[in-house]
Amino acid sequence: MKKVAVVREQFPGERRVALLPENVEKLNAAGYEVLIEEGAGEAAGIPDQLYADAGAKVTTRSGLMGADVLVQVRSLGANAVNGDQDLELVNAGQLVIGMCDPLGNAEAIEHLATVGASQIALEMVPRITRAQSMDVLSSMATIAGYRAVLHAAYQLPRMFPLNMTAAGTLQAARVFIIGAGVAGLQAAATAKRLGAVVSAYDVRPDCREQVESVGARFVELELETDDAEDAGGYAREQTEDFLMKQRAFMAEVASEHDIVITTAAIPGRQSPLLITSEAVAGMDYGSVIIDLAAERGGNCAETKADETVLVDGVTILGPTNLPAEIPYHASQMFGNNVTNLLLHLISDEGEIELDLEDDIVAGCLVSKNGEIVNERIGGILGVEVAVTQATTEPEGEDEPQQEVESNVNQEPTAEGVTEAEIELSDEDFQQDDVADSQEIPLVEEEDVEEVEEEVEEEAEEEAEEEAEEEAEDYSDVEAELQEVDDALGQFFTTEESDTIEDVDSEEEEVEEEEEYEEAEEEDDEEELAEDEEVDEDHFEYEELEDEEDALTEEDDESVYEEEYEEDEADEEEEYVEYEVEESDELEVDEESEEESEEDAEAEEESEEDAAEEYELEDYDAAADYSDDDDEPDYDFSDYEEE
Ligand code: NAI
Repeated sequence: MKKVAVVREQFPGERRVALLPENVEKLNAAGYEVLIEEGAGEAAGIPDQLYADAGAKVTTRSGLMGADVLVQVRSLGANAVNGDQDLELVNAGQLVIGMCDPLGNAEAIEHLATVGASQIALEMVPRITRAQSMDVLSSMATIAGYRAVLHAAYQLPRMFPLNMTAAGTLQAARVFIIGAGVAGLQAAATAKRLGAVVSAYDVRPDCREQVESVGARFVELELETDDAEDAGGYAREQTEDFLMKQRAFMAEVASEHDIVITTAAIPGRQSPLLITSEAVAGMDYGSVIIDLAAERGGNCAETKADETVLVDGVTILGPTNLPAEIPYHASQMFGNNVTNLLLHLISDEGEIELDLEDDIVAGCLVSKNGEIVNERIGGILGVEVAVTQATTEPEGEDEPQQEVESNVNQEPTAEGVTEAEIELSDEDFQQDDVADSQEIPLVEEEDVEEVEEEVEEEAEEEAEEEAEEEAEDYSDVEAELQEVDDALGQFFTTEESDTIEDVDSEEEEVEEEEEYEEAEEEDDEEELAEDEEVDEDHFEYEELEDEEDALTEEDDESVYEEEYEEDEADEEEEYVEYEVEESDELEVDEESEEESEEDAEAEEESEEDAAEEYELEDYDAAADYSDDDDEPDYDFSDYEEE
């Protein structure tokens, strides 16, 4: 069994662990024995016992010596502070897997190679479909995008969601994301879920759909962006002229937002400057900028890596290790990615294969048994890459390509497929053709007739088989057609029955309408009577008793009568209520002119009540206010005065 050792992380503040107990079981099943350094998972909330229960061997640091594979979150290159402490665990022939900042700290790769070890830089796992489950960068960017929003929410002196309270309207926070890659989209989705109004911008116009799919608005810069995307689908480095215009535009958009989260990155390069000091000054006091690109210089001119600075009232954060702040889930994603890679590397015979013809290995293996095998790293170090690897061009046209182009120097397309991968598919196809043609046996001239007969017989047999298959296919098609017919039949039956129901319901509707009209007529009579009753009773209650008999049978005068008898004030309230409910329908008849001043006042009050109700309805409608407005659309001054 191959031994995989999980090291306790040494980098200050690093709380992730390279494998989780759930990974141990899978690796055991595939032929790996897992060793865990004591306390390796503690900072992520995973006690040693859980690893032991899952089948790992929990051991001291020295117990890790001699393992075939060393797995770390941060290996030497990504741990400039004290990564050399781990060197004692590394030996010749061993494979070290971890993040190692290969483009930023290639010297560390060279240093580790001198021991004679092989090294996989997890940052260089190609972003291709086959390697998606091993893509540590995407996993960590997901965590970082989420965490960035939480930091912003914590710093902002406002709430995220729109709130309409008795104490006033709290406007929703306005969040602007620059760079809609993995981190940016996760940030947009998280901010949206918290209730913010979210906008996002990316130099790649293809991002629009993805941005909109998470509920954010895509901000478009009215500049020529046709060449913003390279053949691989990544952002192309822009001209200085473009960047100047872009900065001016970013300043304008940023000034309309409370939070700006920047994630704009060009692989292997310094982050482009997008938020200038002037743009910071143009933002509202209390605004927040979270610069995820801080590690590579930042997208904001005022960013200081791993510091929180206050400039012109704007709080700017440049965190460089956000995944470590959510160590459990970050470790879960990291552990799954590493496990998938380990499973990819182990052969059926239980050997670890570092096959440079495999595009995943070719992408991320930076050194093999002490030699630099990656051209890009070799280029940075000025070292000639000795080992023939998948990046080598084919030698001759008539020889089938045995090697594929590496993805190391290529960026994946938006769909995650590199050109090399597409070429590989074509190659495979051509090679298959060659293989097929080679399967035809060579024959001597004298056997030609015999062979021809055989071929004819074979052709006849094939033709018969095909005919049979066709017949079967035909009967299948017939059966399918029958099924479709049946389904259609059911459909029409349902339609018909619906139609019958419709007719029934129409009849019912007509009946209901008639009943309703009758009822309305009766109601009118009631209303008239009630009007009479209310008006007259109010002033001449004694007379009302005499007139009772004249009212229609349907009138439920007794209710009123009782109430009037109980308390005349109650009667007046009831009148007011009646007025509110029926205010639209009430007709002012001649008798109403005789209303007392009291009645006029009551009516005025009831109208005000109704108006108030109307205003409250509008208040709710105002929830759907324009995002651009600072002030609510509706004027509540009357309401507030009340
Ligand atoms: P990504 O490559 O998926 O996304 C970057 C996006 O920025 C791309 O969509 C690209 O088109 C866009 N972009 C590049 N130049 C631009 C420009 N001039 N204007 C507008 N958009 C531009 O990268 P991913 O994985 O989303 O990572 C984003 C950043 O977050 C990287 O810088 C990465 O290093 C950083 N990161 C930071 C972490 C932290 O703890 N601070 C953790 C993980 C990632």
